[in-house]
Formats: sequence, structure tokens, C-alpha cells
Amino acid sequence: MPRESSTHRPPVVLGIETSCDETGVALVDAERRVLAEALRSQLDRHAPYGGVVPEIAARAHVEILDHLIARVMAEAELEFPDLAGVAATAGPGLIGGLLVGLITAKAVAAAHRRPLLAINHLEGHALTARFVLGTGPEGLEFPYLLLLVSGGHCQLLAVEGVGRYRRLGTTLDDALGEAFDKAAKMLGLGFPGGPAVERAAREGDPGRFALPRPMVGQPGCNFSFSGLKTALRQTIERLGPQALAPPLQADLCASFQAAVAEALLDRTRRAAALFREMHPGSDALVVAGGVAANAHLRACLAGLAAEQGLRLIVPPPALCTDNGVMIAWAGLERLALGLTDDLAVPARARWPLDPAAEPAPGAGVKA
Ligand code: KG4
Ligand code: ZN
Repeated sequence: MPRESSTHRPPVVLGIETSCDETGVALVDAERRVLAEALRSQLDRHAPYGGVVPEIAARAHVEILDHLIARVMAEAELEFPDLAGVAATAGPGLIGGLLVGLITAKAVAAAHRRPLLAINHLEGHALTARFVLGTGPEGLEFPYLLLLVSGGHCQLLAVEGVGRYRRLGTTLDDALGEAFDKAAKMLGLGFPGGPAVERAAREGDPGRFALPRPMVGQPGCNFSFSGLKTALRQTIERLGPQALAPPLQADLCASFQAAVAEALLDRTRRAAALFREMHPGSDALVVAGGVAANAHLRACLAGLAAEQGLRLIVPPPALCTDNGVMIAWAGLERLALGLTDDLAVPARARWPLDPAAEPAPGAGVKA
């Protein structure tokens, strides 16, 4: 039975994120308070391989998850029966890690008879802005346009409600974060690449190298980054070893980032037009996912929002990259609607937010 004091508190959900290389755990309440949070990066384990190794990731989640859960519960002075629900990322992502988080959530839910919430990782990213701003008329109401740019995803979506998404565009090949990571690798900048490329680009000349602007001017809202990646590789090969040292390394990063920014703006501008046709009264553009932590891209998107009369909403960087708070929050949103899950719910390596949208290569593979 829940302790008596807890009956006067807003509902609290435990969120567990293990879809990729961060073990994230958080306790969040329905009044948008983070009661306790823990986040453990596995970067040091994957860095020698230049990317996330699924088996290493799953083992690292197993080692640490119980400890992190115990720590946040103690910090918030809560017992499992106090929880209104237990939420875990059930997909998309690396299946080993997903299984670790989901099975742990199922064990807590089953042992303490608490509702289970199997969360789509992308829904976690998509709803974070409502956690930041609130869900009422003063905050962020549905529908809104979402640009989701992470290590595994690059999509433009109309977010029409919890569990209700319409995909307007997706990547035909690499996700944007993946493109940043590959660019960094080619330039000898280590892993993860996004922050390293952004840092180096600050010192560079974005006009130094004319890299292609993928998909710019083409119909639709899809993305493609493989051509840009190839062009960057060819430029690096042409320049030889000096490409991997300043100042050319910085110029290459700045030129790459400039090409990416132009592609993002072009695609998002088109999606905004589509979204306006679908939802004439709505004006919010939300950016989510790890790449939204990039200050240069944020500034460019702010310019686009001003030009288009859109309200730009970008969660703080720590909520853009993977974390347990976003999963707990998505759990609270679903719980409020009675959208709980059966203990038999499976983990899903692939799990598109908009099942009606045609699958595209590169989409839905990673978290
Ligand atoms: O959302 P996230 O933490 O994990 C996934 O769900 O994929 O995103 C991680 C991705 C990585 O590819 C990383 O390089 C990229 O986000 N990223 C950035 C920046 N910070 C993280 N990309 C560009 N600029 C950044 N500052
Ligand atoms: Zn993510």
C-alpha cells in the first residue's frame, strides 16, 4: 500500500532510459518537478571503438541500472509502492539495452503492483518541451511541429497528441547526429562527434569549403546526409594530413556545419508550410534530440522561426540529449490518459512514431 503521506502528493513516475549508451533514471512528478535524477554515460567504454558497441552497452546498463534506481529512490525518500507508475524506454534502440531497462521496469511494476508504461524513446524526446513549458494554454499545447534530430533519427513530425504523430519528413540515409559523428571521425575529432565538431567550427571559416547542401530546393521534407559525408571525405583526402590539424580542421567543421544548417532550414521551412496547412492556428516549432544541443543550429533555427512567425522551443541541452527525465515525463503523460501497458509488452528495436508513414532506410534503427 502507498504510504499515507504519499496520497497528498502529485503522482510520481520512475523513468528508465537504456536505449543507447546512457543509463538514465529519474523520478518526476505530475507538477513537472524532478525529485531525483541520475545519468551515467558509457562514453569511456565505447570511445576506443569509435562508436557504440551494442553488447558493451547492454552489459554496462546491467551493471549500473539497479544502483542508479536505488540512488534516486533514496534521494527522493520514496519507496516503490509510492510510485504512480514505472516507465521505461521499450524502443526504438539497441535491443540488449532496451531489454535491460524494460525488464527492470517490469520487475518493479510486477513486484509492487504498479502500472507499467512502455515508452517510445522518440515520444520521450517529442514530449520533453511540454515538460519544460507546461501543458496548459500558457505552456505548450498540441499540435506542434517537431524537428527531431538525434544520433539515430532525423525527422519532421506533426505532434497532434500523446501517441499521435504524423511524419512529414525523414532521412533517407544517415541521421544528423550520425553525420556529425562520422564527420568528426574523419577529421580525427573523436566520439561523440557533435560537440567536437561544434567546438572546432567556432574557430573556422564556414565559407572556406563549398560542400553540397543536400536536398535543398527539392520537393518534400526528407533529409539526406550521405552525399555531404562523401563530399567531406573527398575534400579531406584531397587536402591530405593537414586537414586533420587546425586551421583547416576548423574550416572543414565550420563548412560542414554551414551545409547542415542550410539543409535543416530548407527542410524545416517546407515542413512549416505543410504543418500550417494541416493546423492553421498552430505556431510552435519544437526542436528535440541530441543535435538540438548545437548552439549554431539553434541560432539558425531561431532566425527561421522569426522569419516564419513561429514560436521556437528548444529544451535546455541536458534535456535534449538522452536522459531519464524525458521517459518519466512521457510516462506521466501516458498515465494521465490511462495508456498503461501489459507486462507482456515487448522491447522493439524498431518502433516508428507514425506507423502509417512509409518506412525509409535509416529511420527507426537507433535511438
Ligand atoms: O538524442 P541523443 O542523446 O541520442 C540519440 O537518441 O541518438 O543524441 C546523440 C547525438 C550524437 O550523434 C551526438 O553527436 C549529437 O547528438 N550531438 C550533437 C551535439 N551534441 C550532441 N550534434 C551536434 N552538435 C552538438 N552540440
Ligand atoms: Zn535520443
